[in-house]
Amino acid sequence: MQFRFSDSLKNIRPSEIRELLKYASAKDFISFGGGMPNPLTFPMNDIREIMDYVLTDYGALALQYGNTGGLNELRTEIKKLVLETEKIKTDEKNIIVTSGSQQGLYELAKVLVNPGDAIITEEPTYVGAISAFDANKAEMHSIQMDNEGMRTDLAEAEIKKLTSEGKKPKFIYTIPTFQNPTGITMSLERRKHLVEIANQYEIPLVEDNPYGELRYSGERLPMLSTLDKDSNVIYLGTFSKVMCPGLRMGYTIGPEEFVNKFNLLKQALDLSSSTFSQYVAWQYLKRGIIKQQIPKSIELYRKKRDAMLKALDEYFPETSTWSRPDGGMFLWATVDKKINTTELLKDAVQEGVAYVSGNAFSPARIQSNSMRLNFTFSEEDQIYRGIEKLGNLIGKKAGVVQSQ
Ligand SMILES: Cc1ncc(COP(=O)(O)O)c(C=O)c1O
Repeated sequence: MQFRFSDSLKNIRPSEIRELLKYASAKDFISFGGGMPNPLTFPMNDIREIMDYVLTDYGALALQYGNTGGLNELRTEIKKLVLETEKIKTDEKNIIVTSGSQQGLYELAKVLVNPGDAIITEEPTYVGAISAFDANKAEMHSIQMDNEGMRTDLAEAEIKKLTSEGKKPKFIYTIPTFQNPTGITMSLERRKHLVEIANQYEIPLVEDNPYGELRYSGERLPMLSTLDKDSNVIYLGTFSKVMCPGLRMGYTIGPEEFVNKFNLLKQALDLSSSTFSQYVAWQYLKRGIIKQQIPKSIELYRKKRDAMLKALDEYFPETSTWSRPDGGMFLWATVDKKINTTELLKDAVQEGVAYVSGNAFSPARIQSNSMRLNFTFSEEDQIYRGIEKLGNLIGKKAGVVQSQ
């Protein structure tokens, strides 16, 4: 018998990152590929203690089915957290606890998009968002970025064009702070302009902020959610990078009308996110452990970012350029135009080093000479050795190609 699969998976690309994770465990292999937080940051002892407490004091509830929208006590803590960290004023009824923000991305697309509907994204953008939007058959219109983030002038022109063709985009997706994959932070001016565009054309903004707390330098900028007075913004948050990803805890914040639809869909999807994980996350926030955890992660990651920037200065050929992120987990390098980074990856893996090639993050598939480099996972000496290997390889390839 042959399965007759639905069309919904047709466009989804197999994850280059998942393939790479296979190599990450091989001895001596240096992977700049994954997007995993460093396990040294996991608050192991605190979580062990919290789990014990939850089972002892709340076992009957924590192991039971829960509300679709999420544990009320956790939503109250999330409300306090986003106010304290990002100055976002919200209410429990506007918050839904999700199984990671990845679920938020999938669900919001399901709630808003009909097959073929246009949406706006950054170019490049988060690979998991591309999968979630592809699975819902959204037509992605990706907007070029520069050092200040999404080129909002180009976004406006694209929205104007699409609207005049009767294809007004359903939403605008952005990762304004320490973007995945580029590490770039959108400037204040662009943030304001994007909110203005969203209001003018009445298009919801989706702001995804998994890395905002991981700042190593520079000043915090206001989130779109606080700049927008018309409540046009859907905000995605997660505990993956500031606690651990294994509990799969994230949250979506939005206008009540949107949240109600989202809840309806979530009932069909999983009834609710893990009640046990929610109790653990609740205690993690309530006890203030997150506030001790974040500075530790920042201290660890800042050194690694600095090490990678130094190694790039030293080892990458002069024809290359790269971003200098103020936070997050990634930087984005662009190499000689003649080098295809997807092809180069095979040679890099042979040399014992990996990255994710640019086109994995490109809705328009136009990032063929770029790569995303993760700096949070490897040891500092691995960062130097890995970047040296990559630099040599790029230099060699550029030379070979040029001499042909
Ligand atoms: C921009 C962005 N959004 C969403 C996610 C999904 O995170 P999670 O599902 O672990 O919350 C990630 C993970 O790397 C990400 O980088």
